[in-house]
Amino acid sequence: MRKKIIAGNWKMNQTLEEGKILTSEVVNMGKDELRDDVQVVLCAPFVHLTTLQAMLTDSSIALGAQNCSNHASGAYTGEISVAMLKSVGTEYVILGHSERREYFGEMDSLLAEKIDITLEHSLTPIFCCGEPLVVREKDEQLAYVQSQIEKSLFHLSAEDFSKIVIAYEPIWAIGTGKTATSDQAQEMHAAIRKQITDQYGEEVANGISILYGGSMKPGNAEELLSCLDVDGGLIGGASLKSRDFVDIAKSF
Ligand code: 13P
Repeated sequence: MRKKIIAGNWKMNQTLEEGKILTSEVVNMGKDELRDDVQVVLCAPFVHLTTLQAMLTDSSIALGAQNCSNHASGAYTGEISVAMLKSVGTEYVILGHSERREYFGEMDSLLAEKIDITLEHSLTPIFCCGEPLVVREKDEQLAYVQSQIEKSLFHLSAEDFSKIVIAYEPIWAIGTGKTATSDQAQEMHAAIRKQITDQYGEEVANGISILYGGSMKPGNAEELLSCLDVDGGLIGGASLKSRDFVDIAKSF
């Protein structure tokens, strides 16, 4: 059985006070409402992680970050290392989000380094991939996404590959209110799983959680999450509303 995961990506939102309120609401609702077989993750801004970790100790909700350095330590002003993340109780790290690729120039090769250092420190990377609209319009999305996966992940051993989570986030669906249809999501997720099968075999491919991200909301989550190869969601805007976020996590 693949792990079902609902991860909230707060992006650059929420002051500490706001983040504490949001977290306590999710924790309180979650106590009664969340299923044991769904792993909920809150990927918060770095400066909130220590505070949130203390709030999450008695819950099953895990803590995640949104980025990390590709270096272990040293003279990299402004960067955050995986050891630092680990030291404050972080378990997951989003890597390769399209916003990091587009606005901060993160390339496939840099992401490969970040994946390696994350795995070395036993953090779980949530590796994001996804095509822009121009690529979708040319119907070249499968090759585009498969290239992202190959370039940043296929240097891994089967054992290491088994530890990652993949999130397919079509860029045209992020923050736009436009969602991939369940057919589009399933087609891509199945193609990714087939690619992993070809590279690492069926056992590895069948164990990897592949999340969908892009305008997932309570109103469309159930349909997307019912797809055979969709194992969860990476939620942006709707993760900032406790009710919506918990409702999405209940939509399997
Ligand atoms: P939205 O849910 O706001 O579209 O964002 C998706 C996303 O980018 C999650 O990482």
